[in-house]
Amino acid sequence: MSEPIRFYYRGTVHHINHTTPLRTVLQHLREDLHCTGTKEGCAEGDCGACTVLIGELSDGEVRLRTINSCIQLLPALDGKALFTVEDMQQPGGALHPAQQAMVECHGSQCGFCTPGFVMSLWSLYLQREGEGQSAPPSRKQIDDTLSGNLCRCTGYRPIIAAAERMGQLPPVRFDRAALAATLQGLQRSGMLTHAIGDGHTFFAPRTLAEVIQLRTLYPAATILSGSTDVGLWFTKQLRNLGDIIYLGQVSALKTLHLRGDQLDIGAAVSLDDAYRALCDHYPQELSELWQRFAGQPVRNAGTLGGNVANGSPIGDSMPWLIALGASVVLHGRAGERVLALEDLYLGYQKKDLQPDEIVAAIRIPLPQAGRHFRTYKLAKRFDQDISAVCAAFAISLDGAIIREARIAFGGMAATPKRAAQAEAALLGQPWTEATLAHAMTMLAQDYAPLSDMRASSAYRMKAAQNLLKRFWFETRPEAPLAPQQVNAFAHGERA
Ligand SMILES: Cc1cc2nc3c(=O)[nH]c(=O)nc-3n(C[C@H](O)[C@H](O)[C@H](O)COP(=O)(O)OP(=O)(O)OC[C@H]3O[C@@H](n4cnc5c(N)ncnc54)[C@H](O)[C@@H]3O)c2cc1C
Ligand code: FES
Ligand code: FES
Repeated sequence: MSEPIRFYYRGTVHHINHTTPLRTVLQHLREDLHCTGTKEGCAEGDCGACTVLIGELSDGEVRLRTINSCIQLLPALDGKALFTVEDMQQPGGALHPAQQAMVECHGSQCGFCTPGFVMSLWSLYLQREGEGQSAPPSRKQIDDTLSGNLCRCTGYRPIIAAAERMGQLPPVRFDRAALAATLQGLQRSGMLTHAIGDGHTFFAPRTLAEVIQLRTLYPAATILSGSTDVGLWFTKQLRNLGDIIYLGQVSALKTLHLRGDQLDIGAAVSLDDAYRALCDHYPQELSELWQRFAGQPVRNAGTLGGNVANGSPIGDSMPWLIALGASVVLHGRAGERVLALEDLYLGYQKKDLQPDEIVAAIRIPLPQAGRHFRTYKLAKRFDQDISAVCAAFAISLDGAIIREARIAFGGMAATPKRAAQAEAALLGQPWTEATLAHAMTMLAQDYAPLSDMRASSAYRMKAAQNLLKRFWFETRPEAPLAPQQVNAFAHGERA
């Protein structure tokens, strides 16, 4: 039996009885509804031309967040609200303040990127309205909001000026209560089963038991979470996903639990929510990585569970999770299995995950006295770029002696991998420059990195060694340097 998907768009609840295979939200907007304000640039989540706002209920409250409609499958909209640039026009035809500010600040030239930018600006406007903020947003807030939008002609200065200006224009209120009531009426009590053509089905279970039952019945089905990796399988690799088990409606996978000195993050918690919660505990250590992980719409849609389950050798979360000694909680027919995260990765794209199992949560140790921890991302751009090298270091000191050392890298091997030889060079030694120098040479025993379009093998090795040195500068027992001081020192050294 196939049920229609239902979502709210432009004042109406839409019912879609049959979806063609791999129909994206963007294709539906442009080709079926002929709402062509939303553009397609890259079809891989990179440029932001396709940015839309999604409204969802979370604990009875409406959450409005940007996503990339080019990599989201239409059935994942079930029970949600969709807002596009077509929704911004005010009664009588006036522009929304986010649009009006773009006009006043000359924020658009060819205009192709503009609908995506105004959707991101609208999300910032709504966020600040929700928080009751009237002061202009900070430059960091603006940069974070626009981190997923690229413009090839205007340049960003006028768009940043528009972000500052929009709050000074006559306000436009968003009726969250009315949307909450509409969304309430769209919530299902049971699982969605929707035919997607070619004999395949999109399942949106609501409980973990349903997920495991489906996983057992359809072992070849694709598990779908935020679709920020899987989206590219169908837009770029033109892969057939077969049956799909969507985790985005399973409330048990969307929880955060503090368990003593560990935090359990449900696999379907968004990257943004996961990093926000983690930065409460590791503000100095993780906030830059949070900001540099993809762009805002990808952080809104993608999940920490998807990052870990995909296990890309250049993914950003695994090195620091491994350095902290995180575990992964798996669920399958036999119940729960807890594994040290590094043991999940058996080889390139090979994982210790049974066909009936899913990643249910990631269990992360919280800060401990005497333990120093840092993670560093090296990429060609600050925002929205994949790492050439991602490093994470954690050492525990007993006085000046290293009693525990965990080092993990992304971009250096076929999987996220620990540096066993460098760790051995540190254990039991004083945290001095001589110990550091030995550990740096041992990294060459641990890794034989590849050369590719992101970096050469030699660059990766040099960068890995220098990042360990940076860690030493920031954590050495005598006169540790703040990150800005390390930068100044490095520049002075070169001069
Ligand atoms: C533009 C762009 C920029 C990006 N930038 C970065 C970046 O800076 N750093 C980085 O690390 N990554 C980046 N990514 C990759 C991606 O965003 C992350 O890997 C993300 O965490 C994937 O999560 P998801 O929920 O979207 O996973 P999905 O795409 O839904 O799934 C990913 C894989 O994991 C499987 N899966 C998902 N959840 C589970 C589960 N609970 N149990 C078992 N299997 C599961 C899926 O079957 C699939 O194989 C980027 C992607 C895009 C499109
Ligand atoms: S079209 Fe470029 S992000 Fe979607
Ligand atoms: S105005 Fe032309 S791409 Fe931005």
